[in-house]
Amino acid sequence: MKKLVGNLKMNLITPRERESYVNAMRNELRKGLHYGVEYILCPPAFHIEMFLERFDRLALIGAQDVFWERKGSYTGEISPVTLVEFGVGCVIIGHSERRKYLGETEALHRLKILMALEVGLRVIYCIGESQEEHRKEQTHEVLSRQLSEALYDVPGIRLPRLTIAYEPLWSIGTNVTPTPDEIAQAQESIRVSIANIFGKSADQRVDVLYGGSVNSQNIDLVCGVPNMDGVLVGRESLHPQEFLRIAERMGKF
Ligand code: PGA
Repeated sequence: MKKLVGNLKMNLITPRERESYVNAMRNELRKGLHYGVEYILCPPAFHIEMFLERFDRLALIGAQDVFWERKGSYTGEISPVTLVEFGVGCVIIGHSERRKYLGETEALHRLKILMALEVGLRVIYCIGESQEEHRKEQTHEVLSRQLSEALYDVPGIRLPRLTIAYEPLWSIGTNVTPTPDEIAQAQESIRVSIANIFGKSADQRVDVLYGGSVNSQNIDLVCGVPNMDGVLVGRESLHPQEFLRIAERMGKF
Protein backbone atom coordinates (compact mmCIF):
# COMPACT_ATOMS: atom_id res chain seq x y z
CA MET A 1 0.00 0.00 0.00
CA LYS A 2 1.39 3.41 -0.93
CA LYS A 3 1.97 5.87 1.88
CA LEU A 4 0.61 9.40 1.77
CA VAL A 5 2.33 11.39 4.49
CA GLY A 6 1.17 14.89 5.42
CA ASN A 7 3.82 16.97 7.13
CA LEU A 8 1.87 19.84 8.68
CA LYS A 9 5.04 21.57 9.91
CA MET A 10 4.48 24.54 12.27
CA ASN A 11 0.95 25.29 11.12
CA LEU A 12 -2.58 25.13 12.59
CA ILE A 13 -1.42 27.72 15.07
CA THR A 14 -4.73 28.70 16.69
CA PRO A 15 -7.53 26.61 18.24
CA ARG A 16 -9.85 27.78 15.48
CA GLU A 17 -7.52 26.86 12.64
CA ARG A 18 -6.91 23.46 14.18
CA GLU A 19 -10.58 22.73 14.70
CA SER A 20 -11.66 23.61 11.19
CA TYR A 21 -8.74 21.66 9.71
CA VAL A 22 -9.46 18.55 11.76
CA ASN A 23 -13.16 18.59 10.88
CA ALA A 24 -12.50 19.06 7.18
CA MET A 25 -9.74 16.45 7.07
CA ARG A 26 -11.84 13.87 8.89
CA ASN A 27 -14.61 14.29 6.33
CA GLU A 28 -12.19 13.90 3.47
CA LEU A 29 -10.39 10.89 4.90
CA ARG A 30 -13.69 9.11 5.47
CA LYS A 31 -14.43 9.52 1.79
CA GLY A 32 -10.97 8.33 0.86
CA LEU A 33 -10.72 5.20 2.99
CA HIS A 34 -11.34 2.92 0.03
CA TYR A 35 -8.53 4.37 -2.12
CA GLY A 36 -6.13 1.81 -0.71
CA VAL A 37 -3.64 4.43 0.48
CA GLU A 38 -2.06 4.51 3.93
CA TYR A 39 -2.66 7.95 5.46
CA ILE A 40 -0.09 9.35 7.86
CA LEU A 41 -0.54 12.81 9.39
CA CYS A 42 2.32 14.50 11.21
CA PRO A 43 0.98 17.49 13.15
CA PRO A 44 2.96 19.85 15.38
CA ALA A 45 3.83 18.01 18.62
CA PHE A 46 1.36 20.07 20.63
CA HIS A 47 -1.53 18.67 18.58
CA ILE A 48 -0.49 15.02 18.53
CA GLU A 49 -2.74 13.82 21.33
CA MET A 50 -5.76 15.55 19.89
CA PHE A 51 -5.02 14.13 16.43
CA LEU A 52 -4.72 10.65 17.90
CA GLU A 53 -8.24 10.95 19.28
CA ARG A 54 -9.85 12.61 16.32
CA PHE A 55 -8.24 10.57 13.55
CA ASP A 56 -8.63 7.23 15.24
CA ARG A 57 -8.90 4.58 12.50
CA LEU A 58 -8.67 7.21 9.76
CA ALA A 59 -4.94 7.96 9.76
CA LEU A 60 -1.76 6.92 11.46
CA ILE A 61 -0.37 9.83 13.46
CA GLY A 62 3.31 10.65 13.25
CA ALA A 63 5.65 13.11 14.96
CA GLN A 64 7.88 15.61 13.14
CA ASP A 65 10.86 14.94 15.37
CA VAL A 66 11.95 13.09 18.49
CA PHE A 67 14.81 13.05 21.02
CA TRP A 68 17.43 10.29 21.16
CA GLU A 69 17.16 9.48 24.87
CA ARG A 70 14.20 7.90 26.60
CA LYS A 71 13.89 10.22 29.59
CA GLY A 72 15.65 12.87 31.62
CA SER A 73 16.83 16.47 31.81
CA TYR A 74 16.36 17.48 28.18
CA THR A 75 14.35 20.67 28.25
CA GLY A 76 11.87 21.05 25.45
CA GLU A 77 12.38 17.59 23.98
CA ILE A 78 9.92 14.76 23.37
CA SER A 79 10.65 11.22 24.47
CA PRO A 80 10.35 8.42 21.90
CA VAL A 81 8.78 6.34 24.65
CA THR A 82 6.04 8.92 25.15
CA LEU A 83 5.28 8.80 21.43
CA VAL A 84 4.99 5.03 21.41
CA GLU A 85 3.03 4.81 24.65
CA PHE A 86 0.45 7.33 23.47
CA GLY A 87 -0.05 5.56 20.15
CA VAL A 88 2.07 7.54 17.71
CA GLY A 89 3.06 5.25 14.86
CA CYS A 90 6.00 6.93 13.23
CA VAL A 91 8.37 9.86 13.28
CA ILE A 92 10.01 12.03 10.64
CA ILE A 93 13.74 12.37 11.24
CA GLY A 94 16.22 14.57 9.39
CA HIS A 95 13.82 16.89 7.62
CA SER A 96 15.81 19.48 5.68
CA GLU A 97 14.22 22.31 7.65
CA ARG A 98 15.71 20.86 10.82
CA ARG A 99 19.06 20.53 9.10
CA LYS A 100 18.82 24.12 7.91
CA TYR A 101 17.38 25.97 10.93
CA LEU A 102 18.67 23.80 13.77
CA GLY A 103 21.94 22.59 12.33
CA GLU A 104 21.04 18.91 12.62
CA THR A 105 23.66 16.55 11.27
CA GLU A 106 23.71 12.91 10.19
CA ALA A 107 25.51 12.03 13.42
CA LEU A 108 22.51 13.34 15.32
CA HIS A 109 20.06 11.63 12.99
CA ARG A 110 21.83 8.37 13.62
CA LEU A 111 21.16 8.66 17.36
CA LYS A 112 17.53 9.57 16.82
CA ILE A 113 16.95 6.80 14.29
CA LEU A 114 18.56 4.13 16.47
CA MET A 115 16.46 5.08 19.48
CA ALA A 116 13.20 5.57 17.60
CA LEU A 117 13.53 2.14 15.99
CA GLU A 118 14.57 0.58 19.28
CA VAL A 119 11.40 1.71 21.06
CA GLY A 120 9.24 0.48 18.18
CA LEU A 121 8.50 3.59 16.12
CA ARG A 122 8.53 3.59 12.36
CA VAL A 123 11.01 6.12 11.02
CA ILE A 124 10.79 8.30 7.92
CA TYR A 125 14.33 9.51 7.32
CA CYS A 126 14.51 12.51 4.96
CA ILE A 127 17.49 13.05 2.70
CA GLY A 128 18.20 15.13 -0.38
CA GLU A 129 20.73 17.25 -2.20
CA SER A 130 20.87 21.05 -2.47
CA GLN A 131 20.43 22.98 -5.70
CA GLU A 132 24.17 23.48 -5.97
CA GLU A 133 24.89 19.79 -5.44
CA HIS A 134 22.24 18.95 -7.98
CA ARG A 135 23.81 21.29 -10.52
CA LYS A 136 27.22 19.69 -9.93
CA GLU A 137 25.69 16.22 -10.36
CA GLN A 138 26.63 15.18 -6.85
CA THR A 139 23.23 13.74 -5.96
CA HIS A 140 24.35 10.13 -5.67
CA GLU A 141 27.36 11.08 -3.54
CA VAL A 142 25.26 13.22 -1.18
CA LEU A 143 22.50 10.66 -0.75
CA SER A 144 24.94 7.86 -0.16
CA ARG A 145 26.77 9.87 2.50
CA GLN A 146 23.54 10.92 4.25
CA LEU A 147 22.46 7.29 4.34
CA SER A 148 25.70 5.67 5.41
CA GLU A 149 26.47 8.21 8.16
CA ALA A 150 23.02 7.94 9.71
CA LEU A 151 22.30 4.26 9.19
CA TYR A 152 25.54 2.31 9.31
CA ASP A 153 24.83 0.58 12.61
CA VAL A 154 21.07 0.20 12.44
CA PRO A 155 20.32 -3.48 13.12
CA GLY A 156 19.19 -5.11 9.84
CA ILE A 157 16.22 -6.64 11.60
CA ARG A 158 14.74 -3.15 12.03
CA LEU A 159 14.78 -2.28 8.32
CA PRO A 160 11.10 -3.01 7.67
CA ARG A 161 10.26 -0.11 9.98
CA LEU A 162 12.53 2.29 8.11
CA THR A 163 11.30 4.49 5.26
CA ILE A 164 13.52 6.83 3.27
CA ALA A 165 12.05 10.02 1.83
CA TYR A 166 13.96 11.51 -1.07
CA GLU A 167 13.41 15.26 -0.75
CA PRO A 168 15.65 17.41 -2.94
CA LEU A 169 16.08 20.73 -1.15
CA TRP A 170 15.48 22.67 -4.34
CA SER A 171 12.04 21.18 -4.60
CA ILE A 172 10.72 21.70 -1.08
CA GLY A 173 8.35 24.64 -0.97
CA THR A 174 9.31 25.82 -4.44
CA ASN A 175 6.84 24.35 -6.94
CA VAL A 176 9.80 22.95 -8.86
CA THR A 177 9.84 19.18 -9.12
CA PRO A 178 12.50 16.86 -10.52
CA THR A 179 11.64 14.94 -13.69
CA PRO A 180 10.40 11.39 -13.20
CA ASP A 181 13.77 10.26 -14.53
CA GLU A 182 15.63 12.26 -11.90
CA ILE A 183 13.40 10.85 -9.18
CA ALA A 184 13.91 7.33 -10.50
CA GLN A 185 17.68 7.79 -10.51
CA ALA A 186 17.70 9.13 -6.97
CA GLN A 187 15.49 6.26 -5.78
CA GLU A 188 17.80 3.80 -7.46
CA SER A 189 20.80 5.44 -5.86
CA ILE A 190 19.11 5.14 -2.46
CA ARG A 191 18.39 1.46 -3.02
CA VAL A 192 21.99 0.83 -4.04
CA SER A 193 23.27 2.56 -0.90
CA ILE A 194 20.90 0.60 1.32
CA ALA A 195 22.09 -2.63 -0.27
CA ASN A 196 25.71 -1.53 0.22
CA ILE A 197 25.15 -0.85 3.90
CA PHE A 198 22.92 -3.79 4.79
CA GLY A 199 23.66 -6.36 2.14
CA LYS A 200 22.09 -7.65 -1.02
CA SER A 201 18.30 -7.32 -1.33
CA ALA A 202 18.09 -5.29 1.91
CA ASP A 203 16.69 -2.48 -0.22
CA GLN A 204 13.58 -4.59 -0.78
CA ARG A 205 12.77 -4.22 2.90
CA VAL A 206 12.86 -0.41 2.91
CA ASP A 207 10.16 1.86 1.48
CA VAL A 208 11.34 4.85 -0.53
CA LEU A 209 9.11 7.93 -0.84
CA TYR A 210 9.39 11.15 -2.77
CA GLY A 211 8.74 14.60 -1.24
CA GLY A 212 8.94 18.17 -2.56
CA SER A 213 6.12 20.23 -4.11
CA VAL A 214 3.82 17.25 -4.58
CA ASN A 215 0.29 18.19 -5.63
CA SER A 216 -2.64 16.69 -7.50
CA GLN A 217 -1.23 17.96 -10.81
CA ASN A 218 2.10 16.17 -10.60
CA ILE A 219 1.20 13.12 -8.49
CA ASP A 220 0.67 10.95 -11.58
CA LEU A 221 4.20 11.66 -12.77
CA VAL A 222 5.63 10.93 -9.32
CA CYS A 223 3.66 7.72 -8.83
CA GLY A 224 4.56 6.61 -12.34
CA VAL A 225 8.17 6.21 -11.21
CA PRO A 226 8.85 2.45 -10.84
CA ASN A 227 8.91 1.14 -7.26
CA MET A 228 7.53 4.36 -5.82
CA ASP A 229 6.24 3.60 -2.33
CA GLY A 230 4.51 6.90 -1.65
CA VAL A 231 4.90 10.62 -1.08
CA LEU A 232 5.55 13.15 1.65
CA VAL A 233 3.43 16.26 1.23
CA GLY A 234 3.98 19.62 2.91
CA ARG A 235 1.86 22.58 1.82
CA GLU A 236 -0.88 20.61 0.12
CA SER A 237 -1.50 18.56 3.26
CA LEU A 238 -2.89 21.77 4.78
CA HIS A 239 -5.73 21.61 2.26
CA PRO A 240 -7.82 18.52 2.99
CA GLN A 241 -9.58 18.45 -0.37
CA GLU A 242 -6.33 18.72 -2.27
CA PHE A 243 -4.79 16.07 -0.01
CA LEU A 244 -7.63 13.74 -0.95
CA ARG A 245 -7.28 14.51 -4.64
CA ILE A 246 -3.68 13.35 -4.32
CA ALA A 247 -4.84 10.18 -2.52
CA GLU A 248 -7.43 9.45 -5.17
CA ARG A 249 -4.83 9.62 -7.93
CA MET A 250 -2.41 7.47 -5.91
CA GLY A 251 -5.06 4.82 -5.46
CA LYS A 252 -5.04 4.26 -9.21
CA PHE A 253 -1.43 3.08 -9.30
P1 PGA B 1 6.25 20.85 0.19
O1 PGA B 1 7.07 20.31 1.44
O2 PGA B 1 5.29 19.76 -0.22
O3 PGA B 1 5.54 22.07 0.70
O4 PGA B 1 7.22 21.17 -0.89
C1 PGA B 1 7.54 19.00 1.42
C2 PGA B 1 8.32 18.70 2.67
O5 PGA B 1 8.89 19.62 3.28
O6 PGA B 1 8.40 17.55 3.10
